Amino acid sequence: MKKRIFSGAQPTGELHIGNYLGATKNWVELQNEYDSLFGIVDLHAITVPQDPAVLRKKSLDLARIYLAAGVDPDISTIFIQSDVPAHAELAWVLNCIARMGELERMTQFKDKSGGKSERASVGLFTYPVLMAADILLYQTDLVPVGQDQKQHLELCRDIAGRFNRDYGEAFVIPDPYIQKAGAKILSLKDPEKKMSKSDENLNATVFLLDDADTIMRKVKKAVTDSGTTIEFDESRPAINNLLTIYKLLTGKTEEECVSDFEGKGYGQFK
Ligand code: AMP
Ligand code: TRP
Repeated sequence: MKKRIFSGAQPTGELHIGNYLGATKNWVELQNEYDSLFGIVDLHAITVPQDPAVLRKKSLDLARIYLAAGVDPDISTIFIQSDVPAHAELAWVLNCIARMGELERMTQFKDKSGGKSERASVGLFTYPVLMAADILLYQTDLVPVGQDQKQHLELCRDIAGRFNRDYGEAFVIPDPYIQKAGAKILSLKDPEKKMSKSDENLNATVFLLDDADTIMRKVKKAVTDSGTTIEFDESRPAINNLLTIYKLLTGKTEEECVSDFEGKGYGQFK
């Protein structure tokens, strides 16, 4: 029997190359080997206010993007989370297993609530439990995601282990699948931050639906550093990030990427 993968993305904003290189591209590579489920997680999106009509449209747009990225509907299942009531049902049960202290440690909640947890929705707080329900519902073996979801996956494993211990073996304990290259694509304008859907700097994020001229302009405006050589070097995050994007989009090895730009400057590289 094939092992199973589950992953998903929220139908808010637009997908960017960080989502693609950190997650979707891996889904496409894994779908032949694994029994694959890819959710459009609209129940996660409503943890912050949404316009219902816009959310519905964006859910369908996201399905189109999954297809365009190469998810094959003949072998993988694409679905909208809210169409399957069991996600919300299991989330309630798991809410009674998860602990306040565990959720309070989630860095994404701290970031998204901007330190104003008094005003954040309870849904935003308990969002990682819904994510655990998504995964555990299908006895998932492997969860391909970007680095920012690692902590949520560890919580999912803890919740599953606790449930199994207290109530009998019910759930497969899932493993994360986080590729080193691409798991955290950085903002083109501030390599201290990850690339995100909601960056206020419009040049920081390359969206999958940007046209060729827009992408070119954003890359040309991307920040670099005071060095001159084009090399993979984690102490130079800006150039390292651009070169990682180049490597993953071309499928070349690191050596090939570096030799493509040997003796060349940032101008030619961009
Ligand atoms: P989201 O659109 O926030 O639901 O994220 C969908 C997927 O993209 C998740 O697996 C994230 O971990 C991944 N992801 C989001 N931002 C980045 C990024 N900057 N670099 C790599 N992966 C990312
Ligand atoms: N929380 C994930 C994100 O924001 C999306 C998500 C929801 C997910 N449920 C999931 C990812 C289950 C993997 C598995 O990126």
